[in-house]
Amino acid sequence: MTQNTSTQNSQPQCDIGFIGLGVMGKNLTLNLADNGYRIACFDLDQSKVDAIIEQDAAERGDAPARVEACRSYTELLSKLNAPHMIILSVPAGDPVDHVCHHLIDAGIAADDIVVDTGNSLWTDSVAREQQYKGKFIFFSTAVSGGEVGARFGPSLMPSGDPYAWTRLEPVLQSIAAKVDPETGKPIESNTPGHPVKEGEPCATYIGPVGAGHYVKMVHNGIEYADMQLICEAYHVMRSALGMMPSDIAAVFRDWNQGELNSYLIEISAEVLEQIDEETGQPLVDVILDRAGQKGTGLWTAVSALQVGSPAQTITQAVFARSLSSLKRERQAASQTLVGPEAQRYSASQKTAIVDALKNALYCSKICAYAQGFQLMDIAAKEHGWKLEFAEIAKIWRAGCIIRAVFLQSITHAYEQNDQLANLLVDPFFADQIARFQQDWRSAISHAVLSGVPCPAMTSALSYYDSYRCDVLPANLLQGQRDFFGAHSFQRVDKPDTKYFHIEWNDPARPQVTVKK
Ligand code: 6PG
Repeated sequence: MTQNTSTQNSQPQCDIGFIGLGVMGKNLTLNLADNGYRIACFDLDQSKVDAIIEQDAAERGDAPARVEACRSYTELLSKLNAPHMIILSVPAGDPVDHVCHHLIDAGIAADDIVVDTGNSLWTDSVAREQQYKGKFIFFSTAVSGGEVGARFGPSLMPSGDPYAWTRLEPVLQSIAAKVDPETGKPIESNTPGHPVKEGEPCATYIGPVGAGHYVKMVHNGIEYADMQLICEAYHVMRSALGMMPSDIAAVFRDWNQGELNSYLIEISAEVLEQIDEETGQPLVDVILDRAGQKGTGLWTAVSALQVGSPAQTITQAVFARSLSSLKRERQAASQTLVGPEAQRYSASQKTAIVDALKNALYCSKICAYAQGFQLMDIAAKEHGWKLEFAEIAKIWRAGCIIRAVFLQSITHAYEQNDQLANLLVDPFFADQIARFQQDWRSAISHAVLSGVPCPAMTSALSYYDSYRCDVLPANLLQGQRDFFGAHSFQRVDKPDTKYFHIEWNDPARPQVTVKK
């Protein structure tokens, strides 16, 4: 690593170039600087460059600055030690190619590495590696953790050229979140200039280019499901049980002590505790119930449909956001469409329902993760990747949005059996659902009888019941298909390589005699 601290020196002296200083880019740059790297940074918006120079100087105090301002792509390349390592944090899509073309114009070399850390579509990463071959090495590294994660330790999902990984590994592992390998809990430091050095880094090589962004996409699909499931538990408590946001926050805080312990439960409690300064009401009551989405959940759902992997809880979470955005229609419908009468519950009944909801949330969460890992498994086979699921679960234990103690149990499941067909059949998770499923069914029944929608929770239960079902009604479905379209069917008593078709309307065929 370069020790020269002069900012005036025109000789190359920076270790890494950083392009794109939005929220994620700025924080990743400061994280790299905390870890001793000297960064040459550039953004089309020069005020962002000026701001980070100021922040770096303030955070370093008396120590030499580690971030250098660049006013052009050419200047950025000129400040880097060769071979160059350049990290991009720009919006997914065209901006990535825009920057790549500018770097080519500025004279980037064939053994230089460009790392895309945005939320890019994984197929774009695959195409880019080909497109830029011979000009530079395009490498994809998906990042999770939001603003704070980027600053003090994100979860990183790198993928691409293995040679590039040998150069990137020390850099990415130094800035990643760290986990205590014994407990699986994050080791945190939120103090600028004091990065965590010990523990297992949440950055592991995922596979060929695009694999990392695929895994991050599924992470986000699970994130959508996790968030929706928490929101449904909140909805039942708020609407069916009439609890106040602060009471629900207390319930979430309690749940956060056990197997549901997670970043998303923790922040949900914090959101519910906020009071609106303008109205004095709980802030959540004045937030418009129309969910935004940037597309990664949708991509996960599309991919699940494409590869034929049942990921209904994730998909329902995407649909729930879509339905929420039909605010006007829902308002109109609420005036005309009827539901059940509000149920009256005693205090002890409410307590029992809240307890059941906790287990319903836990079982549903297991299903959402089972779907995500199953999707990655099926997709990996389709795309020829060798994904290490224990390693993926490990790097999600800290730094990322879905970080949770629960990921330690998933790590154990795949460490014990890396050929696990589904998380649901892992002995630990199978036992957990066996113990809690009655509560799961009962909580959903209360929601259904109260008319409170729980699309993710109910879909998770259907996933579980379908997955454990020896005989599904797909036999009738195959009969229907053959009836109207001669699509053929297989038989339970013949090899499944053989297909059959019958003339359903043939009067000579034997029929069940219906007794009148
Ligand atoms: C993360 C987040 C991050 C981002 C989501 C938000 O892992 O750090 O997932 O990538 O917050 O893309 O997605 P939506 O806007 O679609 O909710």
